[in-house]
Amino acid sequence: MDIPPTDQPPMGPKAFFLPEDLADYVAAHSSAPDPVLERLTERTRRLGSLFSMQIAPEQGAFMTLLTAAIGARVAVEVGTFTGYSSICIARGLAPGGRLIACDRSDEWTAVAREAWLEAGVDDRIDLRLGPAAETLAALDPDLVVDLAFIDADKENYLIYFEALLPHMRPGGVVLVDNVLWSGRVVDPVATDADTEALRVFNDAVVADSRVEVAMLPLADGVSVIRVLPPGG
Ligand SMILES: C[S@@+](CC[C@H](N)C(=O)[O-])C[C@H]1O[C@@H](n2cnc3c(N)ncnc32)[C@H](O)[C@@H]1O
Repeated sequence: MDIPPTDQPPMGPKAFFLPEDLADYVAAHSSAPDPVLERLTERTRRLGSLFSMQIAPEQGAFMTLLTAAIGARVAVEVGTFTGYSSICIARGLAPGGRLIACDRSDEWTAVAREAWLEAGVDDRIDLRLGPAAETLAALDPDLVVDLAFIDADKENYLIYFEALLPHMRPGGVVLVDNVLWSGRVVDPVATDADTEALRVFNDAVVADSRVEVAMLPLADGVSVIRVLPPGG
């Protein structure tokens, strides 16, 4: 896909609550994106304001690290866009691992497919195009997932979470992006559908006895949800 250049300024830090110098410090002291991720970032930046959908570099570093730390072999991503987070997950997978990447946009994932080739992870990623709720409902019932990442339409977060849960291995981890939503989750004036959906999601997860959760003030907020074995 040929993306025209744009004058779009670089976006501010995803970690909206940090002063810019501290946000820069955090990014500078997390493993840096390699040239493939740098080029992908430049390419995605040319999409203009849509660039803000891409995860932050320090979040990508965290996701690669966590994927590797839990020895993930099978991962599912809901919301692939131009591919940054999928590359970060794929790079952390154990040898022979695979990532099922779900998105409904052929246009944006065309950029991702090129980046996967460039990163040498295309053989590990299985792109499934279509509404993610349908893709997840159609997963092989026997599929056991070690790591999942939810980063698509906020109103369906709970649906994605519930669809993934029966597939998660005990001890598996679900990462959920944008749980702070630029701070709007605690802004009483914010009553839009996305903000409300995120509040409902965050409240539901913390009260859910099937999981334990740590909400990290990383980038726009990332919840790390560990699936407990039956019986706790
Ligand atoms: C925030 S972006 C994902 C960013 C990506 N994780 C990254 O690191 O660049 C959200 C993505 O979710 C996809 N999406 C939104 N609603 C969807 C749905 N109902 N089914 C499938 N994909 C959806 C959009 O096409 C978009 O690519």
